[in-house]
Amino acid sequence: MKIKGFLKDVTGAKRVTAARLDAFAKASSHIEKVDPIAEVVKEWHPGRLEVVVTDVRPASKTAVTVRFERTDGKKMPFFYAGQYLVLDLKIGDAVVSRPYSISSAPCEGRQEPGFAEITVRRSKGDGFVADFINERVRPGDVFTAQVGCGQFYYEPLRDAKHVVALAGGVGITPFAAMAKEVAHGTLDMDLTILYGSVSSDDIVMKEELDAIQSDRVRIVHVLSGDEPGWEGEKGFLTADLIKKYSADDTTYFICGPQAMYTFLREELKKLDIPARRVRFEVFGQAKDITKFPGYPVELKDETFKMTVRRGIHEDVIDAKATESIVTALERAAIRIDTGCRSGECGFCRTKVISGSVYVCPENDGRRAADKDFGYVHACAAYPTSDLTIKIPIE
Ligand SMILES: Cc1cc2nc3c(=O)[nH]c(=O)nc-3n(C[C@H](O)[C@H](O)[C@H](O)COP(=O)(O)OP(=O)(O)OC[C@H]3O[C@@H](n4cnc5c(N)ncnc54)[C@H](O)[C@@H]3O)c2cc1C
Ligand code: FES
Repeated sequence: MKIKGFLKDVTGAKRVTAARLDAFAKASSHIEKVDPIAEVVKEWHPGRLEVVVTDVRPASKTAVTVRFERTDGKKMPFFYAGQYLVLDLKIGDAVVSRPYSISSAPCEGRQEPGFAEITVRRSKGDGFVADFINERVRPGDVFTAQVGCGQFYYEPLRDAKHVVALAGGVGITPFAAMAKEVAHGTLDMDLTILYGSVSSDDIVMKEELDAIQSDRVRIVHVLSGDEPGWEGEKGFLTADLIKKYSADDTTYFICGPQAMYTFLREELKKLDIPARRVRFEVFGQAKDITKFPGYPVELKDETFKMTVRRGIHEDVIDAKATESIVTALERAAIRIDTGCRSGECGFCRTKVISGSVYVCPENDGRRAADKDFGYVHACAAYPTSDLTIKIPIE
């Protein structure tokens, strides 16, 4: 019986081979140049896109919402509610990019024409890009952007059905996208947003958010300033307040200024919440690097010479001790890929050939091998001597 089965296999294989040879003989000699799988991947993840501003509207007294559509009229690429886009800008001589959480819903991106919106708060006086966007960006302006970056989104296999979002200031933006997606019926979770602001004037996207409240989306405004007549929650996002709005099984998403993260880490500890139930959005470059442990404060006023190698090109530029390597490159109009600007994504991975740098410990997202072989994430590395670096050719 065994032998018979074996022979059957051999004759079967012979038949298949003959059929294949026949198919080859009849096949067209035309080579199909379009790879349908590559086409689908390109549509969903097209990399850097050209986008045009189609609307700019106020989102509060201190913030604007900017709407982008693709210049080729297509839908936006796929992104999750909570992800960010990276916007490239040319401001004066500098070529810069910044990450902004997408404040519109993914379902709005998949319309025709699809759009993605960002909501940007003006700075308190030192905002290079934030102030440019608030004051100078107008409908018709064209930029490039990479849409759909980062890990800050709801994942039903990992996260609890009930989510408490802890937002501070303009950190409301990823939750605005989630709230809209839930309201649209394309994201299945129950969302309670505890939204901390100093005063009611600081609340960003208030009307838009209040209009989509439902039994699945609840927005609780919490004011830390003293405001006569305010009847809502007051103070900070403390453990007691968080507990009041939590269910038995809750996942916490946190997005806001750096100081809020430090505060909330302690508050969540008081509630014994397991780490797997807490998700933090990255907060960007350190505001004042001199405040971080181990920073050589005696160098803070120094400007070093940085030699930048790109293929056969070599430039020598100034690099301040208090600014990241990315900022030094951008000031000198040398393009380097960036995403999170928080040391996390690795887009700005750079080889330090000689010289020394300080790496911000809070933002050191490098792999162990990269540390051993002298690579840094340029958004989190600060020169502490003259140095030579090698960056990829754009
Ligand atoms: C994941 C993520 C999502 C975010 N989402 C939002 C959001 O939804 N809304 C929002 O408002 N913000 C958001 N931010 C913050 C945003 O990316 C910017 O940091 C913010 O708008 C402030 O940008 P800024 O350039 O004004 O100030 P900073 O980012 O603080 O940059 C100021 C720095 O620019 C550099 N600089 C100054 N002059 C020059 C020059 N001539 N050339 C080159 N560099 C110069 C200097 O180093 C200066 O310190 C997000 C950040 C992250 C990481
Ligand atoms: S831009 Fe993400 S690690 Fe530097």
